Amino acid sequence: MIEDDRKLLILYGSQTGTAKDHAERTAREARRRHFMVKVMAMDEYRIASLINEKLVLFVCATTGQGDEPDNMKTFWRFLLRKNLPSDSLSQMSCGVIGLGDSSYLKFNVVAKKLHKRLLQLGASAILSPALGDDQHELGPDAAIDIWLTFFWNKVQTMYPLPPGVEIISKDILSPPRFRVQFLTYEEEKDLADEVIEENRASLETIPEIESPPSQASPFKARMIGNEKMTAKSHFQDVRLISFDVQGSKIEYRPGDVVMIYPQNLKETSTEFLKLLDVSPDQKFILHQEDLDSTLPTELPQPCSVQECVERYWDIQSIPRRSFFELLWHFSQDDIEQEKLQEFTTAEGQEELYSYCNRPHRTVLEVLQDFPHTTPYIPFEYYFDLIPPIKPRAFSIASSPTVHLGEIHILIAIVNFKTRLQKPRLGLCSNWLANINMEDISKIPLWVRKGSITMPPDDVPVVMVGPGTGCAPFRSFIFERASRNIVRNYLFFGCRNKCGDFLCSRDWLSLVNSGMLHLFTAYSRDQEHKVYVQHKILEQAQLVWDLIEEQGAWVYVAGNAKQMPIDVRKAFLKIFQECGGKTDQQAEKYLKNLELKKRFQMEVWS
Ligand code: 2AM
Repeated sequence: MIEDDRKLLILYGSQTGTAKDHAERTAREARRRHFMVKVMAMDEYRIASLINEKLVLFVCATTGQGDEPDNMKTFWRFLLRKNLPSDSLSQMSCGVIGLGDSSYLKFNVVAKKLHKRLLQLGASAILSPALGDDQHELGPDAAIDIWLTFFWNKVQTMYPLPPGVEIISKDILSPPRFRVQFLTYEEEKDLADEVIEENRASLETIPEIESPPSQASPFKARMIGNEKMTAKSHFQDVRLISFDVQGSKIEYRPGDVVMIYPQNLKETSTEFLKLLDVSPDQKFILHQEDLDSTLPTELPQPCSVQECVERYWDIQSIPRRSFFELLWHFSQDDIEQEKLQEFTTAEGQEELYSYCNRPHRTVLEVLQDFPHTTPYIPFEYYFDLIPPIKPRAFSIASSPTVHLGEIHILIAIVNFKTRLQKPRLGLCSNWLANINMEDISKIPLWVRKGSITMPPDDVPVVMVGPGTGCAPFRSFIFERASRNIVRNYLFFGCRNKCGDFLCSRDWLSLVNSGMLHLFTAYSRDQEHKVYVQHKILEQAQLVWDLIEEQGAWVYVAGNAKQMPIDVRKAFLKIFQECGGKTDQQAEKYLKNLELKKRFQMEVWS
């Protein structure tokens, strides 16, 4: 007999869906341990009930510059209220799983802050937070998987199973989350008529919806520009891509981010379709079987198998451990089954890493590698095996005033070689780069607030943006230039003046019209490396004067890893040398600028 208080609440804060995946996966584990589980986004949860919860697992990502995901912002704001008594959560035992990337300065800061705040409010921690890391040498789940083993051990002592009740074995295949109803030709036709009828009825009764596009209802934009920004001979291909968003109700500010839902490339989808024992044109309807999984809003209902493969399953992603935990069940061959099972064990993780992560082997390639397993996967289980394609975020490079009705992005086409023969292609960049503009195919997108915000008009702005890091500054500068604001200082860096001087035409014309002060660092045009931080130091007195005397706001954007750290150091040096500050004073001065939003960063990997 299982007691009624064997309840676990799992709350997630997820920007791209990875935290949600983890939450759902952990819920399945909890059910094997006979817990009644509820899984929801933090902002969907009725927060007043939190005081009654006894066991809660939080799963949250850290995004941008240490920001919390959109679907936990309200929850987090509430938790920060000063008037909450310090024993509000004294009934609660909790665990926090963080998803982050240690190449960013504020690694997993959301999980750390949440953990600290929960303890301040009286909750007891079952463990210190799990710090998932995209840069972990054994893959992003490695630290979390180990943490979960400890977590379940502790939970088991807190909630021992009654005598005679066992943890449900992993060898038992759980039912699929969704049921698939394949439609006959007649059913399809009847449904189409019904939909037409419903649409007609709704058009007559419901007024036009005023809300701007969102993840649940993206705007389908036409691509109107795809211009190469790099020389033919350059090692990398960077494009300035423009979308027509007229009539979309999209409003954005410089510093905002556009989210794009990419699709699988035609060739990849065709390869995948060959693995399925069902026609690409077959239509189906998805029904919810598992109460914790909501039906994907990205999929039309009904949907064809082809649409599902092209638009929904992320067949180019690297499979995670949970993929193998499910896959081996379908194997009809001992050797394949043994191999797949090995990948699910703690001892097999090194091997899994060498097989999947190191060569960037994709879901499609793994499925092709197991010919005595893949043909036996029932269609509905693909929804449990393969994660959905996640939207990608890009800094907006256009100005809402100057480029009216358009959104521009700067995108590097990802194409690199690994130990596998075939080159690896970045999903979103290659999909966009290959879209034929004559095509009617449209790109699903919406806009999200960015982590950087425009400075006031009456202060100068110092921008540091090597490579595609210059994207948000193209938006800033055009916007300010349209209002005749001239104190714009840009430090741009690239490898070669003739190779990857991105948007050079725009910069040079802005310089000519007196709207921009430009400093360029061409890292490989001479023997020694010249980076943006060297150019900043060359202009130390000017930079100091702009910040200290004229109240400039400073921005750094671009690839994470070393650049932001080095640039930060250059500013500290200027505060010491030009401002006469000690190490500590310089650090404090910079912290103070950050606090006042006068030093902002937007970095990505
Ligand atoms: P590199 O490739 O020659 O090392 C845009 O990617 C520019 O940023 C390139 O010129 C690149 O130089 C440069 N870059 C690489 N590491 C950097 C760092 N730590 N700080 C500043 N710029 C860097």
